[in-house]
Amino acid sequence: MSQHYQHDVLVIGSGAAGLTLALTLPSHLRIAVLSKGNLSNGSTFWAQGGVAAVLDDTDTVESHVADTLVAGGGLCREDAVRFTVEHSREAIQWLIDQGVPFTRDDHSSGEDSHFEFHLTREGGHSHRRIIHAADATGAAIFNTLLEQTRRRSNVELLEQRVAVDLITERKLGLKGQRCLGAYVLDRASGEVDTFSARFVILATGGAAKVYLYTSNPDGACGDGIAMAWRAGCRVGNLEFNQFHPTCLYHPQAKSFLVTEALRGEGALLKLPNGERFMLRFDERAELAPRDIVARAIDHEMKRLGIDCVFLDISHKPADFIKSHFPTVYERCLDFGIDITRQPIPVVPAAHYTCGGVVVNAKGQTDVEGLYAIGETSFTGLHGANRMASNSLLECFVYARSAAADIVSQLDQVTMPSDLPDWDASQVTDSDEDVIIAHNWDELRRFMWDYVGIVRTNKRLQRAEHRVRLLLDEIDEFYSNYKVSRDLIELRNLAVVADLMIKSAMQRKESRGLHYTLDYPEQLSEARDTILQPPTYVD
Ligand code: FAD
Ligand code: SIN
Repeated sequence: MSQHYQHDVLVIGSGAAGLTLALTLPSHLRIAVLSKGNLSNGSTFWAQGGVAAVLDDTDTVESHVADTLVAGGGLCREDAVRFTVEHSREAIQWLIDQGVPFTRDDHSSGEDSHFEFHLTREGGHSHRRIIHAADATGAAIFNTLLEQTRRRSNVELLEQRVAVDLITERKLGLKGQRCLGAYVLDRASGEVDTFSARFVILATGGAAKVYLYTSNPDGACGDGIAMAWRAGCRVGNLEFNQFHPTCLYHPQAKSFLVTEALRGEGALLKLPNGERFMLRFDERAELAPRDIVARAIDHEMKRLGIDCVFLDISHKPADFIKSHFPTVYERCLDFGIDITRQPIPVVPAAHYTCGGVVVNAKGQTDVEGLYAIGETSFTGLHGANRMASNSLLECFVYARSAAADIVSQLDQVTMPSDLPDWDASQVTDSDEDVIIAHNWDELRRFMWDYVGIVRTNKRLQRAEHRVRLLLDEIDEFYSNYKVSRDLIELRNLAVVADLMIKSAMQRKESRGLHYTLDYPEQLSEARDTILQPPTYVD
Protein backbone atom coordinates (compact mmCIF):
# COMPACT_ATOMS: atom_id res chain seq x y z
CA MET A 1 0.00 0.00 0.00
CA SER A 2 1.34 3.41 -0.86
CA GLN A 3 1.70 5.95 1.98
CA HIS A 4 0.91 9.64 2.41
CA TYR A 5 3.36 11.89 4.29
CA GLN A 6 3.08 15.53 5.36
CA HIS A 7 6.01 17.81 6.16
CA ASP A 8 6.53 21.52 6.38
CA VAL A 9 9.62 21.20 4.20
CA LEU A 10 10.50 18.37 1.82
CA VAL A 11 14.21 18.37 0.94
CA ILE A 12 15.06 16.10 -1.99
CA GLY A 13 18.78 15.39 -1.58
CA SER A 14 21.08 14.77 1.37
CA GLY A 15 24.32 16.38 0.14
CA ALA A 16 25.97 19.61 1.26
CA ALA A 17 23.05 21.72 0.02
CA GLY A 18 20.19 19.62 1.42
CA LEU A 19 21.74 19.01 4.86
CA THR A 20 22.74 22.66 5.25
CA LEU A 21 19.20 23.78 4.52
CA ALA A 22 17.70 21.26 6.96
CA LEU A 23 20.10 22.34 9.71
CA THR A 24 19.50 26.04 9.13
CA LEU A 25 15.70 25.88 9.36
CA PRO A 26 14.10 26.35 12.79
CA SER A 27 13.60 23.21 14.88
CA HIS A 28 9.81 23.58 15.17
CA LEU A 29 9.42 22.71 11.47
CA ARG A 30 8.84 19.10 10.40
CA ILE A 31 11.40 18.36 7.71
CA ALA A 32 12.00 15.30 5.51
CA VAL A 33 15.37 14.82 3.79
CA LEU A 34 15.34 12.18 1.04
CA SER A 35 18.19 10.34 -0.61
CA LYS A 36 17.66 7.98 -3.50
CA GLY A 37 20.39 5.66 -2.22
CA ASN A 38 22.31 5.77 1.03
CA LEU A 39 22.55 9.21 2.61
CA SER A 40 26.17 9.57 1.46
CA ASN A 41 25.15 8.85 -2.13
CA GLY A 42 25.85 12.30 -3.63
CA SER A 43 29.00 14.03 -4.86
CA THR A 44 29.51 15.88 -1.58
CA PHE A 45 30.99 12.85 0.15
CA TRP A 46 33.67 12.55 -2.57
CA ALA A 47 34.78 16.18 -2.70
CA GLN A 48 38.52 16.38 -2.20
CA GLY A 49 40.11 19.81 -2.66
CA GLY A 50 38.04 22.02 -0.36
CA VAL A 51 35.87 25.13 -0.17
CA ALA A 52 36.91 28.50 -1.61
CA ALA A 53 36.34 31.52 0.65
CA VAL A 54 37.88 34.82 1.63
CA LEU A 55 39.41 33.88 4.97
CA ASP A 56 42.95 35.20 5.17
CA ASP A 57 43.37 38.90 6.04
CA THR A 58 45.61 39.32 3.02
CA ASP A 59 42.85 38.09 0.66
CA THR A 60 39.91 40.24 -0.47
CA VAL A 61 36.35 39.84 -1.72
CA GLU A 62 37.37 41.80 -4.81
CA SER A 63 40.14 39.34 -5.63
CA HIS A 64 37.89 36.26 -5.23
CA VAL A 65 35.20 37.96 -7.33
CA ALA A 66 37.70 38.92 -10.04
CA ASP A 67 39.17 35.39 -10.24
CA THR A 68 35.68 33.85 -10.52
CA LEU A 69 34.72 36.26 -13.30
CA VAL A 70 37.90 35.48 -15.25
CA ALA A 71 37.48 31.69 -14.88
CA GLY A 72 33.81 32.05 -15.92
CA GLY A 73 34.73 33.34 -19.38
CA GLY A 74 32.85 36.63 -19.08
CA LEU A 75 29.50 34.94 -18.45
CA CYS A 76 29.16 34.96 -14.65
CA ARG A 77 26.42 37.12 -13.22
CA GLU A 78 28.43 39.55 -11.18
CA ASP A 79 25.66 40.05 -8.60
CA ALA A 80 25.56 36.28 -7.96
CA VAL A 81 29.36 36.12 -7.67
CA ARG A 82 29.47 39.03 -5.27
CA PHE A 83 26.58 37.64 -3.21
CA THR A 84 28.32 34.26 -2.88
CA VAL A 85 31.76 35.60 -2.08
CA GLU A 86 30.48 38.19 0.39
CA HIS A 87 28.76 35.40 2.34
CA SER A 88 31.72 33.01 2.13
CA ARG A 89 33.33 33.81 5.47
CA GLU A 90 30.11 33.40 7.47
CA ALA A 91 29.33 30.14 5.65
CA ILE A 92 32.75 28.74 6.64
CA GLN A 93 32.33 29.98 10.21
CA TRP A 94 29.01 28.11 10.32
CA LEU A 95 30.77 24.92 9.17
CA ILE A 96 33.48 25.39 11.80
CA ASP A 97 30.76 25.89 14.42
CA GLN A 98 29.10 22.66 13.30
CA GLY A 99 32.43 20.95 14.03
CA VAL A 100 33.93 20.27 10.57
CA PRO A 101 37.56 19.19 11.24
CA PHE A 102 39.35 21.42 8.72
CA THR A 103 43.13 20.98 8.49
CA ARG A 104 44.91 23.43 10.78
CA ASP A 105 47.91 25.50 9.73
CA ASP A 106 50.96 24.36 11.73
CA HIS A 107 52.71 27.65 10.97
CA SER A 108 50.01 29.98 12.27
CA SER A 109 50.85 31.56 15.64
CA GLY A 110 47.18 32.29 16.32
CA GLU A 111 48.13 35.84 17.35
CA ASP A 112 49.05 37.53 14.10
CA SER A 113 46.89 38.06 11.02
CA HIS A 114 47.21 34.45 9.81
CA PHE A 115 44.09 32.37 9.63
CA GLU A 116 44.37 29.34 11.93
CA PHE A 117 43.43 26.81 9.22
CA HIS A 118 45.59 25.73 6.31
CA LEU A 119 44.60 27.26 2.98
CA THR A 120 45.57 25.60 -0.28
CA ARG A 121 45.45 26.79 -3.87
CA GLU A 122 43.72 25.56 -7.01
CA GLY A 123 43.40 26.56 -10.67
CA GLY A 124 42.20 30.09 -11.39
CA HIS A 125 42.71 31.36 -7.82
CA SER A 126 45.28 34.13 -7.47
CA HIS A 127 45.41 33.56 -3.72
CA ARG A 128 45.56 30.68 -1.25
CA ARG A 129 41.90 30.53 -0.23
CA ILE A 130 40.79 26.89 -0.21
CA ILE A 131 39.97 25.61 3.27
CA HIS A 132 40.08 21.82 3.38
CA ALA A 133 40.26 18.66 5.47
CA ALA A 134 43.41 17.12 3.96
CA ASP A 135 42.20 15.71 0.61
CA ALA A 136 38.88 14.35 1.91
CA THR A 137 37.03 17.60 2.56
CA GLY A 138 33.67 16.32 1.34
CA ALA A 139 33.63 13.35 3.70
CA ALA A 140 34.60 15.57 6.65
CA ILE A 141 31.79 18.03 5.86
CA PHE A 142 29.20 15.37 5.08
CA ASN A 143 29.90 13.32 8.22
CA THR A 144 29.74 16.40 10.45
CA LEU A 145 26.52 17.74 8.93
CA LEU A 146 24.92 14.30 9.04
CA GLU A 147 25.83 13.85 12.70
CA GLN A 148 24.30 17.25 13.49
CA THR A 149 21.16 16.43 11.50
CA ARG A 150 20.72 13.11 13.33
CA ARG A 151 20.56 15.09 16.58
CA ARG A 152 17.56 17.06 15.30
CA SER A 153 14.33 15.29 16.24
CA ASN A 154 12.39 17.43 13.73
CA VAL A 155 14.33 16.07 10.73
CA GLU A 156 13.44 12.69 9.22
CA LEU A 157 16.24 11.21 7.11
CA LEU A 158 14.76 8.85 4.53
CA GLU A 159 17.10 6.65 2.48
CA GLN A 160 16.36 4.66 -0.69
CA ARG A 161 13.55 7.06 -1.66
CA VAL A 162 13.60 8.19 -5.28
CA ALA A 163 11.59 11.30 -6.14
CA VAL A 164 9.80 10.56 -9.41
CA ASP A 165 8.04 13.85 -10.09
CA LEU A 166 6.85 17.03 -8.45
CA ILE A 167 3.17 17.61 -7.68
CA THR A 168 2.01 21.07 -8.71
CA GLU A 169 -1.32 22.85 -8.76
CA ARG A 170 -1.03 23.06 -12.53
CA LYS A 171 -0.55 19.29 -12.93
CA LEU A 172 -3.60 18.66 -10.75
CA GLY A 173 -5.66 21.05 -12.87
CA LEU A 174 -6.06 23.50 -9.95
CA LYS A 175 -5.87 27.26 -10.14
CA GLY A 176 -2.37 28.50 -9.33
CA GLN A 177 1.20 27.43 -9.95
CA ARG A 178 2.39 26.28 -6.54
CA CYS A 179 4.43 23.14 -5.89
CA LEU A 180 2.56 20.95 -3.38
CA GLY A 181 4.88 17.99 -2.91
CA ALA A 182 6.34 15.03 -4.78
CA TYR A 183 5.71 11.43 -5.72
CA VAL A 184 8.49 9.30 -4.30
CA LEU A 185 9.39 5.66 -4.98
CA ASP A 186 10.13 3.71 -1.79
CA ARG A 187 12.68 1.18 -3.02
CA ALA A 188 11.98 -1.17 -0.11
CA SER A 189 8.23 -1.52 -0.74
CA GLY A 190 8.30 -0.79 -4.47
CA GLU A 191 5.38 1.61 -3.92
CA VAL A 192 5.21 5.25 -5.01
CA ASP A 193 4.25 7.36 -1.96
CA THR A 194 2.77 10.86 -1.87
CA PHE A 195 4.68 13.57 0.02
CA SER A 196 2.81 16.83 0.69
CA ALA A 197 4.82 19.84 1.84
CA ARG A 198 4.50 23.57 2.28
CA PHE A 199 7.91 24.03 0.65
CA VAL A 200 9.84 21.67 -1.64
CA ILE A 201 13.59 21.87 -2.19
CA LEU A 202 15.51 20.30 -5.06
CA ALA A 203 19.02 19.54 -3.78
CA THR A 204 19.63 16.61 -6.10
CA GLY A 205 23.15 17.42 -7.36
CA GLY A 206 24.41 17.46 -10.95
CA ALA A 207 24.10 15.43 -14.13
CA ALA A 208 27.65 14.36 -15.03
CA LYS A 209 26.49 10.76 -15.31
CA VAL A 210 25.13 11.75 -18.71
CA TYR A 211 28.72 11.11 -19.90
CA LEU A 212 30.46 7.76 -20.25
CA TYR A 213 33.47 8.79 -18.16
CA THR A 214 32.85 10.85 -15.04
CA SER A 215 34.31 11.65 -11.64
CA ASN A 216 30.78 11.57 -10.17
CA PRO A 217 29.05 8.84 -8.17
CA ASP A 218 26.30 6.83 -9.88
CA GLY A 219 23.35 8.99 -8.80
CA ALA A 220 24.41 12.19 -10.61
CA CYS A 221 21.59 11.89 -13.17
CA GLY A 222 20.12 15.39 -13.20
CA ASP A 223 16.86 14.23 -11.57
CA GLY A 224 16.15 17.65 -10.08
CA ILE A 225 16.76 19.45 -13.36
CA ALA A 226 14.43 17.10 -15.25
CA MET A 227 11.72 17.24 -12.55
CA ALA A 228 11.86 21.05 -12.45
CA TRP A 229 11.67 21.24 -16.25
CA ARG A 230 8.58 19.02 -16.29
CA ALA A 231 7.07 21.18 -13.55
CA GLY A 232 7.45 24.34 -15.66
CA CYS A 233 10.82 25.81 -14.57
CA ARG A 234 13.34 27.40 -16.90
CA VAL A 235 16.85 25.96 -17.09
CA GLY A 236 20.04 27.87 -17.86
CA ASN A 237 23.48 27.32 -19.43
CA LEU A 238 23.29 23.55 -19.66
CA GLU A 239 25.88 23.48 -22.46
CA PHE A 240 28.60 24.17 -19.90
CA ASN A 241 29.68 20.73 -18.71
CA GLN A 242 32.91 20.84 -16.79
CA PHE A 243 35.50 18.13 -17.41
CA HIS A 244 37.96 17.70 -14.56
CA PRO A 245 41.45 17.48 -16.07
CA THR A 246 42.83 14.80 -13.80
CA CYS A 247 40.98 11.57 -13.07
CA LEU A 248 43.05 8.47 -12.45
CA TYR A 249 43.56 6.43 -15.61
CA HIS A 250 43.49 2.78 -14.66
CA PRO A 251 41.22 -0.01 -15.93
CA GLN A 252 39.96 -0.81 -12.41
CA ALA A 253 39.79 2.74 -11.04
CA LYS A 254 36.16 3.72 -11.61
CA SER A 255 35.60 7.48 -11.13
CA PHE A 256 38.62 8.34 -9.01
CA LEU A 257 39.52 12.04 -9.01
CA VAL A 258 43.06 13.27 -8.41
CA THR A 259 42.49 16.62 -6.71
CA GLU A 260 43.50 19.89 -8.31
CA ALA A 261 45.12 20.79 -5.00
CA LEU A 262 48.05 18.59 -6.11
CA ARG A 263 48.70 21.09 -8.88
CA GLY A 264 48.09 23.87 -6.34
CA GLU A 265 50.95 22.42 -4.29
CA GLY A 266 53.29 22.09 -7.28
CA ALA A 267 52.39 18.92 -9.24
CA LEU A 268 53.28 19.11 -12.95
CA LEU A 269 51.50 17.73 -15.99
CA LYS A 270 53.75 15.75 -18.31
CA LEU A 271 53.68 13.78 -21.54
CA PRO A 272 54.82 10.12 -21.52
CA ASN A 273 58.38 11.29 -22.40
CA GLY A 274 58.48 13.48 -19.27
CA GLU A 275 58.08 16.78 -21.16
CA ARG A 276 55.85 19.49 -19.60
CA PHE A 277 53.26 20.91 -22.00
CA MET A 278 50.89 23.29 -20.20
CA LEU A 279 53.06 26.38 -20.80
CA ARG A 280 52.42 25.95 -24.52
CA PHE A 281 48.71 26.55 -23.82
CA ASP A 282 48.56 29.14 -21.04
CA GLU A 283 51.06 31.20 -19.05
CA ARG A 284 49.36 30.04 -15.83
CA ALA A 285 50.40 26.53 -16.86
CA GLU A 286 49.07 23.81 -14.49
CA LEU A 287 47.07 26.40 -12.57
CA ALA A 288 45.10 27.75 -15.52
CA PRO A 289 41.30 27.39 -15.17
CA ARG A 290 39.96 23.89 -15.68
CA ASP A 291 38.47 24.32 -19.16
CA ILE A 292 41.89 25.31 -20.50
CA VAL A 293 43.78 22.47 -18.78
CA ALA A 294 41.22 19.81 -19.79
CA ARG A 295 41.24 21.00 -23.41
CA ALA A 296 45.05 21.04 -23.49
CA ILE A 297 45.20 17.45 -22.22
CA ASP A 298 42.54 16.37 -24.73
CA HIS A 299 44.52 18.09 -27.50
CA GLU A 300 47.80 16.38 -26.56
CA MET A 301 46.14 12.96 -26.21
CA LYS A 302 44.58 13.29 -29.68
CA ARG A 303 47.75 14.76 -31.24
CA LEU A 304 50.01 11.99 -29.94
CA GLY A 305 47.43 9.17 -29.95
CA ILE A 306 48.11 8.45 -26.27
CA ASP A 307 45.70 7.05 -23.67
CA CYS A 308 46.60 9.45 -20.85
CA VAL A 309 49.04 12.10 -19.65
CA PHE A 310 50.87 12.13 -16.29
CA LEU A 311 50.63 14.22 -13.14
CA ASP A 312 53.87 14.30 -11.22
CA ILE A 313 54.34 15.45 -7.62
CA SER A 314 57.22 13.09 -6.85
CA HIS A 315 59.69 16.02 -6.59
CA LYS A 316 58.03 17.03 -3.29
CA PRO A 317 59.11 15.41 0.01
CA ALA A 318 57.31 12.09 0.63
CA ASP A 319 56.11 13.19 4.09
CA PHE A 320 54.52 16.32 2.64
CA ILE A 321 52.70 14.28 -0.03
CA LYS A 322 51.45 11.67 2.45
CA SER A 323 50.19 14.22 4.96
CA HIS A 324 48.51 16.57 2.45
CA PHE A 325 47.10 13.93 0.13
CA PRO A 326 46.54 10.75 2.14
CA THR A 327 43.45 9.71 0.14
CA VAL A 328 45.11 10.09 -3.26
CA TYR A 329 48.29 8.44 -1.98
CA GLU A 330 46.46 5.38 -0.61
CA ARG A 331 44.13 5.00 -3.56
CA CYS A 332 46.97 5.16 -6.10
CA LEU A 333 48.99 2.71 -4.02
CA ASP A 334 46.02 0.29 -4.28
CA PHE A 335 46.70 0.31 -8.02
CA GLY A 336 50.46 -0.10 -7.63
CA ILE A 337 51.34 3.59 -8.15
CA ASP A 338 53.53 5.16 -5.45
CA ILE A 339 52.95 8.89 -6.04
CA THR A 340 55.95 9.84 -3.90
CA ARG A 341 58.12 8.20 -6.56
CA GLN A 342 56.04 7.86 -9.73
CA PRO A 343 53.86 10.11 -11.92
CA ILE A 344 50.11 9.41 -11.92
CA PRO A 345 48.39 8.48 -15.23
CA VAL A 346 45.43 10.85 -15.65
CA VAL A 347 42.65 11.71 -18.14
CA PRO A 348 39.84 14.30 -18.14
CA ALA A 349 36.33 13.15 -17.13
CA ALA A 350 32.92 14.82 -16.79
CA HIS A 351 32.81 16.46 -13.39
CA TYR A 352 30.37 19.28 -12.88
CA THR A 353 27.12 20.68 -14.33
CA CYS A 354 27.56 24.47 -14.44
CA GLY A 355 24.00 25.10 -15.61
CA GLY A 356 20.76 23.98 -14.02
CA VAL A 357 17.40 25.17 -12.74
CA VAL A 358 17.15 28.97 -12.94
CA VAL A 359 16.97 30.48 -9.45
CA ASN A 360 17.35 33.88 -7.80
CA ALA A 361 19.52 34.73 -4.79
CA LYS A 362 16.96 33.10 -2.48
CA GLY A 363 17.06 29.81 -4.39
CA GLN A 364 13.49 30.36 -5.65
CA THR A 365 12.62 28.72 -8.98
CA ASP A 366 9.88 29.78 -11.40
CA VAL A 367 7.35 27.60 -9.57
CA GLU A 368 6.05 29.01 -6.30
CA GLY A 369 7.12 27.08 -3.21
CA LEU A 370 9.82 25.20 -5.15
CA TYR A 371 13.49 25.95 -4.49
CA ALA A 372 16.66 24.60 -6.12
CA ILE A 373 20.02 24.71 -4.34
CA GLY A 374 23.49 23.29 -4.91
CA GLU A 375 24.69 21.76 -8.14
CA THR A 376 21.17 21.29 -9.50
CA SER A 377 20.62 25.05 -9.63
CA PHE A 378 21.73 27.78 -11.99
CA THR A 379 22.53 30.86 -9.92
CA GLY A 380 24.82 32.62 -12.41
CA LEU A 381 27.88 32.11 -10.18
CA HIS A 382 29.87 29.85 -12.50
CA GLY A 383 29.37 31.43 -15.92
CA ALA A 384 30.97 29.42 -18.70
CA ASN A 385 33.35 27.57 -16.39
CA ARG A 386 33.22 26.98 -12.64
CA MET A 387 36.31 27.95 -10.69
CA ALA A 388 37.64 25.17 -8.46
CA SER A 389 36.04 24.84 -5.01
CA ASN A 390 33.34 27.44 -5.65
CA SER A 391 30.74 24.69 -5.85
CA LEU A 392 30.58 23.64 -2.22
CA LEU A 393 30.61 27.32 -1.30
CA GLU A 394 27.55 27.87 -3.50
CA CYS A 395 25.78 24.95 -1.75
CA PHE A 396 26.24 26.53 1.70
CA VAL A 397 25.50 30.14 0.74
CA TYR A 398 22.33 29.43 -1.24
CA ALA A 399 21.01 26.77 1.17
CA ARG A 400 21.26 29.30 4.00
CA SER A 401 19.66 32.00 1.86
CA ALA A 402 16.77 29.68 0.84
CA ALA A 403 16.22 28.71 4.49
CA ALA A 404 15.92 32.39 5.45
CA ASP A 405 13.40 32.95 2.67
CA ILE A 406 11.29 29.97 3.78
CA VAL A 407 11.24 31.30 7.34
CA SER A 408 10.06 34.69 6.07
CA GLN A 409 7.07 33.01 4.33
CA LEU A 410 5.97 30.56 7.02
CA ASP A 411 2.94 32.61 8.07
CA GLN A 412 1.55 32.79 4.56
CA VAL A 413 1.75 29.16 3.42
CA THR A 414 -0.55 26.38 4.62
CA MET A 415 -0.19 22.62 4.26
CA PRO A 416 -1.65 21.25 1.01
CA SER A 417 -4.31 18.62 1.58
CA ASP A 418 -5.88 15.71 -0.29
CA LEU A 419 -3.20 15.13 -2.88
CA PRO A 420 -4.13 12.23 -5.15
CA ASP A 421 -2.32 8.87 -5.07
CA TRP A 422 0.19 8.02 -7.76
CA ASP A 423 -1.73 6.30 -10.54
CA ALA A 424 -0.22 2.89 -11.27
CA SER A 425 -3.40 1.38 -12.70
CA GLN A 426 -2.15 1.30 -16.32
CA VAL A 427 1.31 -0.21 -15.77
CA THR A 428 2.68 -3.73 -15.32
CA ASP A 429 6.01 -5.24 -14.26
CA SER A 430 8.67 -4.85 -16.92
CA ASP A 431 9.88 -8.02 -18.64
CA GLU A 432 12.50 -6.23 -20.75
CA ASP A 433 14.88 -4.37 -18.45
CA VAL A 434 17.60 -4.88 -21.06
CA ILE A 435 16.13 -1.84 -22.85
CA ILE A 436 17.02 0.34 -19.86
CA ALA A 437 20.60 -0.92 -19.70
CA HIS A 438 21.07 -0.62 -23.46
CA ASN A 439 19.65 2.90 -23.73
CA TRP A 440 21.62 4.05 -20.71
CA ASP A 441 24.90 2.92 -22.33
CA GLU A 442 24.03 4.35 -25.72
CA LEU A 443 23.10 7.74 -24.27
CA ARG A 444 26.27 8.10 -22.23
CA ARG A 445 28.48 7.03 -25.11
CA PHE A 446 27.08 9.41 -27.73
CA MET A 447 27.12 12.28 -25.22
CA TRP A 448 30.82 11.57 -24.62
CA ASP A 449 31.61 11.30 -28.35
CA TYR A 450 29.42 14.11 -29.71
CA VAL A 451 28.82 16.59 -26.85
CA GLY A 452 32.22 16.36 -25.16
CA ILE A 453 35.24 18.64 -24.72
CA VAL A 454 35.36 19.60 -28.42
CA ARG A 455 32.08 19.93 -30.35
CA THR A 456 30.96 20.57 -33.94
CA ASN A 457 27.57 21.27 -35.52
CA LYS A 458 27.57 17.82 -37.10
CA ARG A 459 28.32 16.04 -33.84
CA LEU A 460 25.57 17.96 -32.06
CA GLN A 461 23.08 17.15 -34.84
CA ARG A 462 23.95 13.45 -34.54
CA ALA A 463 23.43 13.60 -30.79
CA GLU A 464 20.12 15.44 -31.21
CA HIS A 465 18.84 12.80 -33.62
CA ARG A 466 19.76 9.95 -31.29
CA VAL A 467 18.38 11.52 -28.14
CA ARG A 468 15.02 12.07 -29.90
CA LEU A 469 14.77 8.35 -30.66
CA LEU A 470 15.70 7.46 -27.10
CA LEU A 471 13.21 9.92 -25.59
CA ASP A 472 10.36 8.33 -27.60
CA GLU A 473 11.39 4.82 -26.62
CA ILE A 474 11.80 5.74 -22.94
CA ASP A 475 8.44 7.55 -22.86
CA GLU A 476 6.70 4.48 -24.20
CA PHE A 477 8.46 2.24 -21.69
CA TYR A 478 7.63 4.66 -18.84
CA SER A 479 3.92 4.68 -19.78
CA ASN A 480 3.66 0.90 -19.75
CA TYR A 481 5.84 -0.35 -16.92
CA LYS A 482 6.22 0.18 -13.19
CA VAL A 483 8.91 2.67 -12.24
CA SER A 484 12.27 1.56 -10.86
CA ARG A 485 15.29 3.66 -9.87
CA ASP A 486 17.03 2.76 -13.16
CA LEU A 487 14.05 3.77 -15.26
CA ILE A 488 13.55 7.06 -13.38
CA GLU A 489 17.24 7.92 -13.82
CA LEU A 490 17.34 6.99 -17.49
CA ARG A 491 14.24 9.08 -18.20
CA ASN A 492 15.78 12.07 -16.43
CA LEU A 493 19.20 11.64 -18.05
CA ALA A 494 17.61 11.62 -21.50
CA VAL A 495 15.65 14.81 -20.72
CA VAL A 496 18.78 16.55 -19.43
CA ALA A 497 20.91 15.32 -22.37
CA ASP A 498 18.32 16.76 -24.74
CA LEU A 499 18.45 20.11 -22.91
CA MET A 500 22.26 20.10 -22.99
CA ILE A 501 22.31 19.43 -26.73
CA LYS A 502 19.69 22.11 -27.42
CA SER A 503 21.66 24.62 -25.32
CA ALA A 504 24.92 23.74 -27.09
CA MET A 505 23.27 24.15 -30.49
CA GLN A 506 22.03 27.61 -29.57
CA ARG A 507 25.51 28.87 -28.66
CA LYS A 508 27.20 30.01 -31.85
CA GLU A 509 30.59 30.77 -30.31
CA SER A 510 33.31 29.12 -28.22
CA ARG A 511 33.31 30.26 -24.61
CA GLY A 512 34.63 28.58 -21.48
CA LEU A 513 33.65 24.92 -21.42
CA HIS A 514 31.72 25.11 -24.69
CA TYR A 515 34.29 24.76 -27.47
CA THR A 516 33.13 24.16 -31.05
CA LEU A 517 35.29 23.89 -34.16
CA ASP A 518 32.53 25.54 -36.20
CA TYR A 519 32.57 28.76 -34.14
CA PRO A 520 36.06 28.94 -32.57
CA GLU A 521 35.78 32.65 -31.67
CA GLN A 522 34.14 34.20 -28.63
CA LEU A 523 31.38 36.72 -29.37
CA SER A 524 31.75 40.21 -27.95
CA GLU A 525 28.44 39.98 -26.09
CA ALA A 526 28.11 37.36 -23.36
CA ARG A 527 24.63 35.83 -23.07
CA ASP A 528 23.13 33.05 -20.98
CA THR A 529 21.28 30.23 -22.73
CA ILE A 530 17.89 30.08 -21.04
CA LEU A 531 15.41 27.40 -22.16
CA GLN A 532 11.70 27.61 -21.35
CA PRO A 533 9.58 24.47 -21.03
CA PRO A 534 6.27 24.35 -22.92
CA THR A 535 4.53 24.57 -19.52
CA TYR A 536 6.39 27.73 -18.42
CA VAL A 537 4.12 30.46 -17.07
CA ASP A 538 5.60 33.94 -16.84
P1 FAD B 1 25.09 16.04 -3.95
O1 FAD B 1 26.10 16.06 -2.89
O2 FAD B 1 25.48 15.42 -5.25
O3 FAD B 1 23.82 15.28 -3.36
C1 FAD B 1 22.72 14.95 -4.16
C2 FAD B 1 21.70 14.26 -3.29
O4 FAD B 1 20.47 14.16 -4.00
C3 FAD B 1 22.05 12.84 -2.90
O5 FAD B 1 21.64 12.63 -1.56
C4 FAD B 1 21.17 11.99 -3.81
O6 FAD B 1 20.84 10.73 -3.28
C5 FAD B 1 19.94 12.87 -3.89
N1 FAD B 1 19.08 12.66 -5.04
C6 FAD B 1 19.36 12.85 -6.35
N2 FAD B 1 18.29 12.55 -7.09
C7 FAD B 1 17.31 12.17 -6.24
C8 FAD B 1 15.99 11.72 -6.39
N3 FAD B 1 15.40 11.61 -7.60
N4 FAD B 1 15.28 11.39 -5.28
C9 FAD B 1 15.82 11.47 -4.05
N5 FAD B 1 17.09 11.88 -3.85
C10 FAD B 1 17.82 12.23 -4.93
N6 FAD B 1 33.39 21.03 -5.23
C11 FAD B 1 34.09 21.88 -4.45
O7 FAD B 1 33.66 23.02 -4.25
N7 FAD B 1 35.28 21.49 -3.90
C12 FAD B 1 35.81 20.26 -4.10
O8 FAD B 1 36.86 19.94 -3.57
C13 FAD B 1 35.09 19.35 -4.93
N8 FAD B 1 35.61 18.12 -5.18
C14 FAD B 1 34.84 17.23 -5.89
C15 FAD B 1 35.32 15.93 -6.08
C16 FAD B 1 34.53 14.99 -6.71
C17 FAD B 1 35.04 13.59 -6.91
C18 FAD B 1 33.25 15.36 -7.19
C19 FAD B 1 32.38 14.35 -7.90
C20 FAD B 1 32.78 16.65 -7.05
C21 FAD B 1 33.58 17.59 -6.39
N9 FAD B 1 33.13 18.91 -6.21
C22 FAD B 1 33.86 19.78 -5.45
C23 FAD B 1 31.78 19.31 -6.61
C24 FAD B 1 30.86 19.23 -5.37
O9 FAD B 1 31.24 18.14 -4.58
C25 FAD B 1 29.41 19.10 -5.73
O10 FAD B 1 29.05 20.07 -6.68
C26 FAD B 1 28.54 19.26 -4.49
O11 FAD B 1 28.94 18.36 -3.50
C27 FAD B 1 27.08 19.05 -4.83
O12 FAD B 1 26.35 19.03 -3.63
P2 FAD B 1 24.79 18.92 -3.68
O13 FAD B 1 24.32 18.98 -2.29
O14 FAD B 1 24.26 19.88 -4.66
O15 FAD B 1 24.50 17.47 -4.31
C1 SIN C 1 39.37 18.92 -6.83
O1 SIN C 1 39.67 18.65 -5.67
O2 SIN C 1 40.16 18.96 -7.76
C2 SIN C 1 37.94 19.22 -7.12
C3 SIN C 1 37.66 20.61 -6.75
C4 SIN C 1 36.39 21.07 -7.37
O3 SIN C 1 35.75 20.36 -8.15
O4 SIN C 1 36.03 22.21 -7.08
